[in-house]
Amino acid sequence: MSVTPSAGSGKITVPDLLQRKSAAGSPYNSNKLVCLTAYDYPTARLLDEAGVDVILVGDSLAMVALGYDSTLPVTLEEMLHHARAVRRGVQRALLVVDMPFGSYHTDTAESLRNAVRFVKEAGVEAVKVEGGERRLELIARLTEAEIPVMGHVGLTPQSVNALGGYRVQGKTVDSAEQLLRDARAVEAAGAFAVVLEAVPRELATQITRELRIPTIGIGAGPDCDGQILVLHDMLGLTFDQPPKFARQYANIGETISKAVREYCADVRGGSFPSDAESYHAGQPLKSAKPIRVSS
Ligand code: KIV
Repeated sequence: MSVTPSAGSGKITVPDLLQRKSAAGSPYNSNKLVCLTAYDYPTARLLDEAGVDVILVGDSLAMVALGYDSTLPVTLEEMLHHARAVRRGVQRALLVVDMPFGSYHTDTAESLRNAVRFVKEAGVEAVKVEGGERRLELIARLTEAEIPVMGHVGLTPQSVNALGGYRVQGKTVDSAEQLLRDARAVEAAGAFAVVLEAVPRELATQITRELRIPTIGIGAGPDCDGQILVLHDMLGLTFDQPPKFARQYANIGETISKAVREYCADVRGGSFPSDAESYHAGQPLKSAKPIRVSS
């Protein structure tokens, strides 16, 4: 059997991410991990070709692409559908999918079956689950089944009802200590990386220094090993005010609106399509009759 090393091929793998952290010392310094969400084929392909390291089919798709008012309603089937589309656009990046709310909250055996579906039916390379200490057993079981797991602690949007809203976490001494325990638990259970969402910079720095696995920040300051944003926030494709940490790099919403308004005007004004945008018959059509519009 021949062994094909991933090094040199450019393909990002789970061992590469871990190795990059240990090689860089703690934390990643010059070679930060660049992560973004994607929910469909064209954006996945654009992100991959632009050099993004990790593409997450986030359950944020519930809100930014499907119009739900939280991440809770999105189903396993909907996540599978989007993950398959993203898979077709990704060659180099590591492809991770969010396990949606309810797909890993009953028993471990069912959670494992659901995670296996993502690997077999959508070709993802890892799954992400929200929660720290309370996910120890699940993360260990998935890892044992050869499914790499990304953890997610701090503000976990699937806990919106339990948390009473979307708030920065770890601001008090007690909650900071709990968050530290959560991050340690995720690593101890076998996760290969952990997302830190909406936590104070100082706490994220401490967690990043302590863990051997890479930390990926969103609203967690610049000292994490990598950063992730929701694609629609950074592209200006959302309708609500984005969170303060989401830097907007483009205003695609405005570009789409402007293009569609111009198209409406061109069709209504008769300038689209032009003759050059029309097909022509090779020779005069004998039977061509003027079109009569009955009144
Ligand atoms: O669902 C999502 O997009 C996420 C990222 C924001 C980390 O979980």
